[in-house]
Amino acid sequence: MLPRSPPRPPPRVLELIHLTLRPAPRPVPEPLPRHLGSHLRRLRLDHRLSQLELATRMGFPGQTVTEVERGEQAPTERYLERLAHALDLPQEQIYALWERYRRTPAGAGVPGDTRADQRDCPCRGLHAFQEQDAALYHGRAAAVSKLTRAIGRSALAGVVGASGSGKSSLVQAGLIPVMRGQEEGWAVVAFRPGSSPYEALAGGVVELIHPDASMDLSVREAAALSRRMHSEGIGQTLDQLSQRLAKPVVLFADQFEELFTHCPSEETIRAFLDHLADLAVRHPGATSRIKVVLTLRGDFYGRAVAHRRFSDVLQDNVVNLPPMNRAELRSAIVEPARARWTSTTGWSSGSSTTWAPTRAICPCWSSR
Ligand SMILES: Nc1ncnc2c1ncn2[C@@H]1O[C@H](COP(=O)(O)OP(=O)(O)OP(=O)(O)O)[C@@H](O)[C@H]1O
Ligand SMILES: [Mg+2]
Repeated sequence: MLPRSPPRPPPRVLELIHLTLRPAPRPVPEPLPRHLGSHLRRLRLDHRLSQLELATRMGFPGQTVTEVERGEQAPTERYLERLAHALDLPQEQIYALWERYRRTPAGAGVPGDTRADQRDCPCRGLHAFQEQDAALYHGRAAAVSKLTRAIGRSALAGVVGASGSGKSSLVQAGLIPVMRGQEEGWAVVAFRPGSSPYEALAGGVVELIHPDASMDLSVREAAALSRRMHSEGIGQTLDQLSQRLAKPVVLFADQFEELFTHCPSEETIRAFLDHLADLAVRHPGATSRIKVVLTLRGDFYGRAVAHRRFSDVLQDNVVNLPPMNRAELRSAIVEPARARWTSTTGWSSGSSTTWAPTRAICPCWSSR
């Protein structure tokens, strides 16, 4: 979603936050932050951000994000505010989460965690489907196979559609599981361009190479890599990554419109598009071991194809993602539930928007 200024929480919530967070010593019993931390980590991953990218967006040292996510320190009020802003979430959602954790006895599981709370719920609520949700992802078989063919024949492919049409889900729960399952077993570098596309890409590469590296090391490596890619292009780095992992590599640039909405430098935007075009030209055809797939909101398609070389390599490899038709919608609702739920009484499938499955299933599920 595009950034919007987060609404202020109602005064009652603020009061609670102050009561909860301000008094010293530490505001919560020791085991609670770990639960909260793991949920905050999941929120970050849902937004496809590395710790480094999130820390940069929040203006916090990377180490703080690491420690909060590990449960080694409790988040402060300022931390939660900036997090909500960085993830474009209503602050109430973060505060409500905090409240639920605060009231949870240690060791009682992870409340507010949709995967834990609704262990078997077949819908993803407002979140995009992730790779691990592939078994529940239905209704887009035609688009998945179009996209698989497009990325199969070219080094660069894109999914274009309206906001909320299901672009991220299509790549994450549709294409990526297919590519991972292929004989070569593709490695995935996922990133969102944000305001610094090279840093975002470098963060994704470093996280893949050193998943357990300290934040300091990751920050240093990502900064150096980002500078190198900006001046020399991204192809060489990705070739080296592929050799090092002994796997072909697919870059997944989600929310590609951020390049136009978040990046303040026209020079960086042009350079990044140039480097993606170079990559596609250098790695043509079906046998390429480096590929790029991007998701792009339709309203920014014009900006992307205004760059001639980028437009040329994207040409013929774009999958339009329209609203689901009746049969697809039915499949998206019925198939996940068929496996998980015996009764479908009370469902309706009259609408043609992607949101309909979510809106139809979740209330039914929570009122079982
Ligand atoms: N095949 C599907 N079946 C059921 N729900 C789906 C399906 N695909 C997407 N959704 C739901 O639709 C909503 C939008 O999905 P997603 O975030 O993937 O769209 P998007 O096009 O990437 O959105 P944005 O433009 O905000 O990036 C989410 O709630 C997601 O769970
Ligand atoms: Mg998306």
